[in-house]
Amino acid sequence: MSVIKVAILGFGTVGEGVYRTIQSHAQEFTAVLGKKVEVVAILVKNIQKERNIREDVLLTTNFQEILRLPQLDVVIEAIVDKEPTFTYLKQAIGKGCHIITANKEMFAHHGKELLDLAKENGVSVGYEATVAGGIPVIQTLRQLLNINRVSQIQGILNGTSNFILSEMREKKQSFAESLRQAQAKGYAEADPTNDIEGFDAFYKAMILSRIAFGEEPDWQTVERQGITAITSELIEAAEKLKLRFKHVASISKEDEQIIASVKPILVGDENPFYHVEGAENAVNVHSDIVGRITLQGPGAGMYPTASAMIEDLVYVCQSKLNSRQNIKKTADWRGQIRKQKDY
Ligand code: HSE
Repeated sequence: MSVIKVAILGFGTVGEGVYRTIQSHAQEFTAVLGKKVEVVAILVKNIQKERNIREDVLLTTNFQEILRLPQLDVVIEAIVDKEPTFTYLKQAIGKGCHIITANKEMFAHHGKELLDLAKENGVSVGYEATVAGGIPVIQTLRQLLNINRVSQIQGILNGTSNFILSEMREKKQSFAESLRQAQAKGYAEADPTNDIEGFDAFYKAMILSRIAFGEEPDWQTVERQGITAITSELIEAAEKLKLRFKHVASISKEDEQIIASVKPILVGDENPFYHVEGAENAVNVHSDIVGRITLQGPGAGMYPTASAMIEDLVYVCQSKLNSRQNIKKTADWRGQIRKQKDY
């Protein structure tokens, strides 16, 4: 049976979740793709660290060593920061690999370039994990956008912030202790500044804006606030009024202009966000035919993020299979090419 060879960049919470899921769901991959999926290489920071990884997997700190592998089909990226990630992914595309990323900061800045480059090179980009963890919001928007006109998207897009606000309210815990727990549970970024200052939700909102409206607002015009000004006293006072603080990103198109904000707001129990607790995310999509759709689910953590990435793995492999099949059909019809290389 032929094999789809995969490299994982990064072996933190997300990278490890992807690796484990590929091992635990090997049969499902084979059943869906008709091919075995094999992790052949992992890019790590420290090669000496003990890890539970098959012995035949190449562990390296050098991405160029991964690129030199004789066959590599998909690069799954689970590291942080814009660079060297963007450079690595461009190189992977140049080598003919599909790429899958969870890196919202990098993708908000460079997503368009990566998508254009992938198109030129006949490969696909999976980025479901960049927004709302395990919730398939990007695939849902792609489906909806065929005919529906989306007018507004609102979302709780940062699991860490939602977890902190929930813990402060339910357990009367301090901000610092709640953040520490979010880090221990693998929800927060390595540097949680992006989570608690609203940058993470901002990047996710910009990615959604591009999908829903084909463009983004001028980043400078977007009001961005995190949750650091929300004290226990404020949460308690709101609770007495049956209100809860939720950190909400909102993007809408009004008179051909995109308006966006990312900030804490107070909601009552008539609002679907009121009951979204812990590290959950939720996304409301308003569109003209279907009305409002609310998607809710785990927004951060090892397996929710891995879930989005391994579903993307199927998506990119199938899009390649489909495009090859389409090429074959055209070629047969024209009678120009008799033999196609199997993918
Ligand atoms: N740190 C992010 C969050 C991880 O808390 O939402 C998922 O993107």
